[in-house]
Amino acid sequence: MKRILIIHGPNLNQLGTREPDIYGSKTLDEINSDLVKQSTAYKLDLSFIQSNLEGDIVDAIQQTDCDGIIINPAAYTHTSIAIRDAISGKQIPVIEVHLSNVYQRESFRHHSHIAPVCIGQITGFGPTSYHLALLAISDHLSA
Ligand code: DQA
Repeated sequence: MKRILIIHGPNLNQLGTREPDIYGSKTLDEINSDLVKQSTAYKLDLSFIQSNLEGDIVDAIQQTDCDGIIINPAAYTHTSIAIRDAISGKQIPVIEVHLSNVYQRESFRHHSHIAPVCIGQITGFGPTSYHLALLAISDHLSA
């Protein structure tokens, strides 16, 4: 069974009450437990972290011995060269996900420092973005 680390960045611990018109009404715990249920179909073993701190996310990427990473870097998508460098220094596949369609939003959200070092980016499908990432990383790892 392949092991996947799911990383949720800053403010995603507030899902459910945070701007529900943009991010939906599910809490992070609900999204994570849906993903655990969905992961059995892909024979993936998931672990999760959420952090509001850039350095914690860098540490998690450096230290993981998982086979792949699914990351929603949240606002760090648009600012963090440190997270980008952590990913490019790690020889495992990483997929970037977003709940909202960042390209329909403010122009500062249109640039990702992270996407160029990922195998792909999924944006705009709410919690389904994470589900699509499970399918994509499972396909990638079994190719
Ligand atoms: C987000 C989009 C980011 O621009 C924003 O800063 C977030 C959430 C998303 O999932 O849609 O915090 O990553």
